[in-house]
Amino acid sequence: MADFFTIAWIDNGGIVRMLDQRLLPHETVYNDYTSAAEVAAAIRDMVIRGAPAIGAAAAYGLAAAAVHSRATDPSTLRSELVAAGQTLKAARPTAVNLAWAVDNMLSVLSFPLLDTVESIQAAAVVHANHIAAEDVQINRQLGLNALDLVPQDATIIHHCNTGSLATVDYGTALGVIRTAHEHGRNVFVLVDETRPRLQGARLTAWELQQQEIPFQVIADGASGYYMRVKGVDLCVVGADRVAANGDTANKIGTYNLAVVAHENGVPFYVAAPTSTVDLQTLTGDDIEIEERPSSEVTHIGEMEITPAGAPAGNPAFDVTPARYITAIITEKGVAYPPFTESLARLKHS
Ligand code: MRU
Repeated sequence: MADFFTIAWIDNGGIVRMLDQRLLPHETVYNDYTSAAEVAAAIRDMVIRGAPAIGAAAAYGLAAAAVHSRATDPSTLRSELVAAGQTLKAARPTAVNLAWAVDNMLSVLSFPLLDTVESIQAAAVVHANHIAAEDVQINRQLGLNALDLVPQDATIIHHCNTGSLATVDYGTALGVIRTAHEHGRNVFVLVDETRPRLQGARLTAWELQQQEIPFQVIADGASGYYMRVKGVDLCVVGADRVAANGDTANKIGTYNLAVVAHENGVPFYVAAPTSTVDLQTLTGDDIEIEERPSSEVTHIGEMEITPAGAPAGNPAFDVTPARYITAIITEKGVAYPPFTESLARLKHS
């Protein structure tokens, strides 16, 4: 277990507590939220980020909305929760886990047996806690499912942050690395710094340091050099949405990494829970890509690094076409091409 937590529900006061990831690695500060609107703002502002973590945050956001509601009858409360769900879903569009968690919560809370305000409120907390706890189990299983893919001595490129901070705990792609390390593999991680928000340099390096897993931070553009000149055994990344055909949306720069891996014959793995696999989205072309403020590119922290007024584009994600992906690792097993069949099989298993 990490000696920090990403997100937790505090029963006393109906509080969603989150580690403020914007301040890491230098400050460890927890913020408290008591409404869905506040949680949505925290997701949008990147207090919490990473697809599974924002799914859990959305679930807890609905729990907070339920617990603090002044509704006096179930149907009013349910209408409020549907509206709160819309607010949460709108916070960030690309990670399907957000919408998945909202829909999952609303579907459970619509059970006719929940016929009082109090029973809906209690069920909202229980189910949000269940979604959070399940995330940790899923990540551990996913890591075990990937063990055979990691050689005894493995130099691994990892992009963004997919660890405990991006989930409720343990991590997806970083969980794969962590499991391999815990099972005695000699892993060495090349940590893409991940411009513009530096999730690799700030967050992944912080987690690896605490887990005593050897690593080196590299500039995003250096991955090709390392593959061609130094030797890399595999790349593993997370996902924000996997389309039915295996096309995968993940942090900007993932596509570049996958193409260079392909060029150099380096296996390229995506690690994600099946809740990130969205069979309703047929291909990557159908995935909405979040455009974030240009100031994230023109500034590092408070410091402006471009000439004043320089225009900048800032897509937060890109889509890696399925043909560059060696396999997709989930908690239900490893999917290989053709992904349309293998993902549908896993999702329904
Ligand atoms: O913008 P972020 O930091 O939320 O982006 C996170 C990623 O792209 C992760 O790789 C993805 O969510 C998987 S996290 C287990």
